[in-house]
Amino acid sequence: MTPATSLFSPVEADLHILADNLKQLVGNDHPILSLAAEHLFGAGGKRIRPAIVLLVSRATMSKDDITPRHRRLAEITEMIHTASLVHDDVVDESEKRRGVDTVHSLFGNRVAVLAGDFLFAQASWYLANLDNLDVVKLLSQVIMDLATGEIVQAVNSFDVDISMDTYLQKTYYKTATLFANSSKAAGILSEVSQQTAENLYEYGRNLGLAFQIVDDIFDFTSSTDTLGKPAGSDLEDGHITAPVIYALEEKQELKTLIKRKFKQAGDLEKALMLVEDSKGIQRSRDLAASKAKLAVQHIAQLPSSPTRQTLIDMADYVLSRLN
Ligand code: IPE
Ligand code: IPE
Ligand code: MG
Ligand code: MG
Repeated sequence: MTPATSLFSPVEADLHILADNLKQLVGNDHPILSLAAEHLFGAGGKRIRPAIVLLVSRATMSKDDITPRHRRLAEITEMIHTASLVHDDVVDESEKRRGVDTVHSLFGNRVAVLAGDFLFAQASWYLANLDNLDVVKLLSQVIMDLATGEIVQAVNSFDVDISMDTYLQKTYYKTATLFANSSKAAGILSEVSQQTAENLYEYGRNLGLAFQIVDDIFDFTSSTDTLGKPAGSDLEDGHITAPVIYALEEKQELKTLIKRKFKQAGDLEKALMLVEDSKGIQRSRDLAASKAKLAVQHIAQLPSSPTRQTLIDMADYVLSRLN
């Protein structure tokens, strides 16, 4: 059992229902679309986002059971995430996702872009059917943010002058927005106060930032086998992430290597060594830890319950992935 599955045990039964529903939710109007969806949802993934939605739902409903709308929100959240991965893998030209071939490597870029669009549209349709305008607005904003995030990232590639603020803003668009807005939406479906809804948003936002910072650290510290893509490939693609931003403060030569886009033989290896030899990784770990701590502070006022405890433990889980 992975740490994630034991951590998710308060919502394990809910996640089983979700897995069954996800496959059924994608319409079968066209065999290629069903095939692509079946392929992706069958391959799983960690399901951290729907687990959080379900945990927030249970933590905010206290004695009452969660409603079919809470479940549907968790499903929509995972559909939106999966759609963004289908598009991301086209942009990044990634061959593997969740241990299986990516949609674009199986069916080509055109089908992958259209299948991603279809999933976003399908998610929007289910979203509208929740009949809650506030929730529709929150999750529609996420879909806009995700596209913004990919564009901001593309525009900033190989920019050695990118600031930590810009990096965190981009990280919000790419990753934290979905954590933030889906947590808040779960609270809204439970009819929490406006203050609690804002706290749930801040919980998700900070946890999402920590999650992506940790993912960015992995690119430097994990093996190619664990990553499912070559280690160092974020840097090779020109993504200037937290470890690099910090390392650039110490290592002038790193700037030169990035500016010439690792054109000369051995450039990328040298750049990776410079990051490793700097305080960049440790400072990024500290940054992720500070965001995770902030996340936890924002759910302190929720009534004490096993699901609230799991939301607190989620912050440790995100950081523990680094060990
Ligand atoms: C991948 O997200 C994209 C990032 C934000 C790093 P996950 O790591 O949650 O991917 P799955 O859903 O488990 O495959
Ligand atoms: C994943 O981003 C896509 C989104 C968060 C929208 P990355 O490109 O950084 O993540 P991986 O490494 O492909 O999972
Ligand atoms: Mg990407
Ligand atoms: Mg990618």
